[in-house]
Amino acid sequence: MKVKAENFYQILSPRWTALISTIDKEGKPNAAPFSFVTPVSSNPPLVLFAAAPQRHTLANVRETHEFVLNIVPEQLLDNLWICSKAFPKGVNEIIESGLSERKSRMVKAPGIKECLAWIECQLEFEREAGDHVLVVGKVINVECQNEFLKQGEFDVSRVKPVMHINGRRFAVAERTTQPKVQ
Ligand SMILES: Cc1cc2nc3c(=O)[nH]c(=O)nc-3n(C[C@H](O)[C@H](O)[C@H](O)COP(=O)(O)O)c2cc1C
Repeated sequence: MKVKAENFYQILSPRWTALISTIDKEGKPNAAPFSFVTPVSSNPPLVLFAAAPQRHTLANVRETHEFVLNIVPEQLLDNLWICSKAFPKGVNEIIESGLSERKSRMVKAPGIKECLAWIECQLEFEREAGDHVLVVGKVINVECQNEFLKQGEFDVSRVKPVMHINGRRFAVAERTTQPKVQ
């Protein structure tokens, strides 16, 4: 069955989904879910997210040059969904969605306390790409709740990260597997 080319991302799914928290130049926090998110380099550590040009998240990154990727477990799905709604600029979706702020170590933007891991980033560069803007950030601090690390690795079976398929449909990753061959 053929799928429209512009819907390819629904096939390239489920996609890792982070709540991205930022502040504007007056220090007002904002949070929104993004699933067009990917690592692009490990040394230097760089991560990319793609934002539609009208996103307040993008405006805030342009104003303050920083952002935090917050890793979301299944039980925060409703909060994540509320954060995706179109609030006026300056409204703090962290509080509006029933979550709370967590002081970050290296950036002024707060993380989200209830999340499982926090990746603090400084803007490296941005670039227009089609109908989105690529935002590439340098990872400058990463923290994770202890119980979700197993031998130093992110324990997906405990984390159960929320992954986006399309619209209101999400998948939850909870099983790991390995190739049988060496
Ligand atoms: C699961 C999910 C993933 C999303 N991923 C993206 C994305 O990768 N890029 C984007 O521009 N918008 C994405 N959106 C839409 C934004 O989250 C939404 O428009 C939000 O209101 C933007 O908030 P802001 O204007 O405060 O940045 C996504 C929405 C949901 C529910």
